[in-house]
Formats: sequence, C-alpha cells, structure tokens
Amino acid sequence: MIFENLREFLRYLDRTGQLVRVTQPVSVDLEMAEITDRAMKLPGGGPALFFERPILMDGTESDIPVAINVFGSWRRMSAALGVEDVEEHARRIAELIKPEIPKGLWGKVQMLPKLAELTRVPPRPYKGSPPCQEIVLREGEFDLTRLPVLKTWPQDGGPFITLPMVITADPETGVQNIGMYRMQVFGPDTTGMHWQQHKGGAGHARAWKRTRGGRMPVVVAIGGDPATMYTPSAPLPPGIDEFLFGGFLRRKPVRTAKALTADLTIPAEAEIVLEGYVDTDEPLAIEGPFGDHTGFYTLEEQYPVFHVTTVTMRADPVYPATLVGKPPVEDVYLGGATERIFLPLAKLTIPEIVDYHMPPEGVFHNLVFVSIKKDYPGQAFKVMNGLWGLGLMSLAKVIVVVDEWINVRDTFEAWWYALGNIDPERDVRFSRGPVDDLDHASQIASFGSKMGIDGTKKWKEEGFTRPWPDMIEMSDEVKARVDALWPRLGIDRTP
Ligand SMILES: Cc1cc2nc3c(=O)[nH]c(=O)nc-3n(C[C@H](O)[C@H](O)[C@H](O)COP(=O)(O)O)c2cc1C
Repeated sequence: MIFENLREFLRYLDRTGQLVRVTQPVSVDLEMAEITDRAMKLPGGGPALFFERPILMDGTESDIPVAINVFGSWRRMSAALGVEDVEEHARRIAELIKPEIPKGLWGKVQMLPKLAELTRVPPRPYKGSPPCQEIVLREGEFDLTRLPVLKTWPQDGGPFITLPMVITADPETGVQNIGMYRMQVFGPDTTGMHWQQHKGGAGHARAWKRTRGGRMPVVVAIGGDPATMYTPSAPLPPGIDEFLFGGFLRRKPVRTAKALTADLTIPAEAEIVLEGYVDTDEPLAIEGPFGDHTGFYTLEEQYPVFHVTTVTMRADPVYPATLVGKPPVEDVYLGGATERIFLPLAKLTIPEIVDYHMPPEGVFHNLVFVSIKKDYPGQAFKVMNGLWGLGLMSLAKVIVVVDEWINVRDTFEAWWYALGNIDPERDVRFSRGPVDDLDHASQIASFGSKMGIDGTKKWKEEGFTRPWPDMIEMSDEVKARVDALWPRLGIDRTP
C-alpha cells in the first residue's frame, strides 16, 4: 500500500487497529511524553497515538492534533515504507547495486524492469497548488509557540520539534540535503538548529559561510508521506537526493513543490512548513538541555538559530512528533529500518560482512555486532577498521566481530560466542577517532576512543597453536528422530 500523506497513513493505522485516539486534553508539557513513553515501552512498540486535544505550554488548547509513535512497530515501519517487511528494500537495493554486466539479449531483457523501476521514481512537481501551502502566514502572522510542540523530559530547555525534515542546499552545486535534526522552539519565530557537525546540514552551513557568508536559506517540512518522512533520518551519502530515495521506497514519485521564499524543493504533501534562514555570521545560541535518545540528557551546547520568516500549512494540519529517551522507543524502528536497508551498501565496500546489528541498548553508535566470512588472518581487524571509515559508522564506539555462522541479531548468541572466543589482551584493540556528538563519556567532545573486539574463531595462522573446540551441536539424525517424537511428548503444553 502506498500512502500519499500522513493523514492517509493515520487513517490506515486507525482502520487496522494500530492507532489509539486520545480524546482527553493532554498537556504538551511532559504529560504527553509520559503517556507516549509508556505506550512505546509496551511489547512490540505499542500503538501509534493521536492526541486530539493538546494543551499548550501556556495552558490553552491547540486545534492542531499530535500524531506520535507512527513508526513505532515493525508492522507500522514496514507499512510506512510500502512493504510487508523492510528486508524487501534491502533485497531491492542489493539487486540494484549488483555490479554485473548483462550477458546476451536475455540478460539485457532481465535488466529492463530494474531500470524501469529507477526511471519511475524521481520526484515530480505537484500539479496545481500544493496542500502544504493552503495557508500562508507571513512575518508577524504566526507564532511557533502556538504549535503543539512537546517538552519531553523535566530538565529539557523547552519544547523541541523532533520529526522535522530540514532542507538545505549546497551553495556551490545546489544539491539539496534533508536531515532530521531536532529544533528547540526559542520563541514565536526562532528555533535552535541541532545539526551535528558530521551531518549534511552542518556541512552546507560551513560551505555557505566559507563561500558567501550571511543568511543561508533553510526550509523545514513537518509531515508528508510516511516513506519520505523517514528519509531524512537515513545516512544517505552526500548528493543522493532524499526525494529520489523516498520515491524508490514508495515505488512512486514523491510530489514536490517550491518553497515560497527560498529556492528549495519541499514535499508538497507536508502538513506544516517553516521557511526561513540560518545566518552563518550570527553567533551561535545555547541549545538544550535535551533528554536524548542515549537515555541521558545532552547538556547545553552552542548551535545556530533558525529564523522563521514564513509558515505555510494545510487548512487542518496534524503535527507529527516522536519521543526519544531511554531505549526502547520509536527510533528502534526508524534506526532498525536504516540498519536493514543499508546493509547491502556496507557490503559493497566491505564484502566479507554477512550481517550486522546495532541493538537498542547500544543506542546505535555505542555497539555494533558484525558477522563476517573470515578468509584470512586478521580479517576481523580489517573489518572494524573499514567500518570506522564508513560514513556515520565511523562514530561506532564498540565493534564486535564474530564468524558468519553467528546470528548477530540475537545479541545473546553474539555475546556468548564473542566472549567465549576472546583472550582480552590479544583480541581487544583500541583506536581513536570521531565519536557521536551525543557521547557524554569521551574525554574531549566528539573525539574519543573506540574498542574493537575480535570474537572470531582463532586460527593457527594468527598465532593460535592450541586445538580450537567445536561448538556443541546435536546430530541431524537425532534431531530428526526427536522432531518426529516431539508432538507426542506434550512438553510444549506444560506451563
Ligand atoms: C528522531 C530522530 C532525531 C534525530 N535528531 C538529530 C539531531 O538533533 N541532530 C542530528 O545531527 N542528528 C539527529 N538525528 C540523526 C540524523 O537524522 C541522521 O544522522 C541522518 O542521517 C542525518 O542526515 P544527513 O546525513 O543528511 O545529515 C536524529 C534521528 C532521529 C531518528
């Protein structure tokens, strides 16, 4: 099923019993977050929530409802991306990047659907006036504090927009980037812009300052079709258009429109759009604290100010949000989808990778399990060094490498195997490099150490001279005999 916008997706969630409508008034000041956190921690991720009567920070009621946890289960995340299972997209990408030249006519014919799929998905301009510009509010006509933006944790510096699509362009090439960066609402027409230094938006701001200085146009779309809403959280290589990627996921073009005040392209189906600028010559401002997805507060830091000059929206907008905090919350599924979808791209550079997994307790950058097909001595170290040079994987704090027969998505199995296989002094290595800006433990902000654990079976070519034991496994023959016997034993039925 393909959804054209957030409201279609919400209607589907409602129809299929995956959404709970909260009809009581609920305050955006912590109350909504507490309800959401409890829902998100239910088995499987809990339902999506639709708060019909948000109460704003000043105690008045908002007529804009809040949708939250819309991506917060595997079923919803997959539906948002137009598939039964996000693995389907991983398979499509693997197929697309297969480096093979078709042999003969039949081979070429087989390539055609692949190429046709790509030509079908580039973004297309929306015909007519786009829904996201039904209402246009110019300077002095809007007040961002009237939006139902949540303050999520007690020590937070204020309310934060948490599910935005922040659109910027490279000043030299004009190529757009869309990133999901939280935005603290500072006042009626300003917010913070929390693009961390390793991210696309921050790169554009640096390039802008270097080449032109002054005001860099920035447009923030909130809401849209659910596949496009996910794309700014994905670590796409620079230059790869999020709208194209959104279209690829949906198997249908994303409909776009031109922002009113900037030469930037926006999703026509957004709910709310904030247009404005970041002045690259303006001093940074204090942003935070913010209860972050690490489960700790990110303390006050200096970030740019986003000045909003125009707000456009639908006539009856819905405000989508997410809640981050102690895992597990909704980003388990947003990040989990990224993990699955991007595996084929990691394999392109490091082909011995069989699978990887970033378990929620490691909040993505703290812990990465990798299984590899080991063909030569020391390969586990080659893989960890490769990963530390690969895009945002460079921020990974601990990488644990195991052999191909281990299911890294079963963290019990992965830890058991790795811990059994290591001699710590021999198999654990420390490295240094950039760490996530949110890492509160590194000695210096965003620069610190990394730990690589070689949990693979050791070889004599690696200097290991003792015999290596087999893992315990029952013989297939006995397993088959017991399979036949099992249903008659009644053991499954014993409480
Ligand atoms: C809910 C959520 C909130 C996020 N908030 C931030 C943030 O405040 N700052 C940031 O730099 N990255 C944040 N991220 C991660 C980025 O969206 C992610 O790294 C993405 O790849 C950035 O896109 P870019 O590579 O185009 O910059 C967040 C991700 C999610 C899922």
